[in-house]
Amino acid sequence: MKDRLFSIDEIDLLAYKIANKYREENGGTIGLIGDLGTGKTTITKKICKYLNITETVKSPTFTYVIEYESGDLKVCHFDVYRINNEDELYEIGFYDFLQEENSLIIVEWANNIIDEMPEDTIYIEIKYNDENSRLISTYKINKNGENEYVDIWDNNDNKNS
Ligand SMILES: Nc1ncnc2c1ncn2[C@@H]1O[C@H](COP(=O)(O)OP(=O)(O)O)[C@@H](O)[C@H]1O
Ligand SMILES: [Mg+2]
Repeated sequence: MKDRLFSIDEIDLLAYKIANKYREENGGTIGLIGDLGTGKTTITKKICKYLNITETVKSPTFTYVIEYESGDLKVCHFDVYRINNEDELYEIGFYDFLQEENSLIIVEWANNIIDEMPEDTIYIEIKYNDENSRLISTYKINKNGENEYVDIWDNNDNKNS
């Protein structure tokens, strides 16, 4: 999916589809890319809601990572905005979290540590469109460094059907 326009309600449905996909796959890694205020934390909260996490999901900006264990999958929510090198990533336990089974890793500002992200990461890139909408792309990055668009939206996994 490339630069599809989403209202905030549609982002809720996208989060629902993402939650179902990772529940079926027993976890994985999501890289969120987008400027400040585009909605990286917002979509994370919605994904956590649909994974039935009962804790209040907060932005990990000042703590780098917050773990949630109350839902269908363990979720490790990172914000690596202020991470500058691999040593710092190591210190916050990034590589340990990647080893864990049955957990979903969600990384805000994944573009900051793109070389350290696992190969099967799905990137969700969000661009501001206007106050009521965002443009969203979903893709993997292949071995040649090229984006391969992934479809999560145009499946038949709809809440009301
Ligand atoms: N599709 C959307 N349409 C309109 N507003 C949105 C949309 N997605 C998120 N927002 C709003 O934009 C802001 C994004 O904040 P936040 O999720 O903290 O951004 P980030 O984590 O990327 O800095 C929130 O006020 C949220 O309600
Ligand atoms: Mg944020």
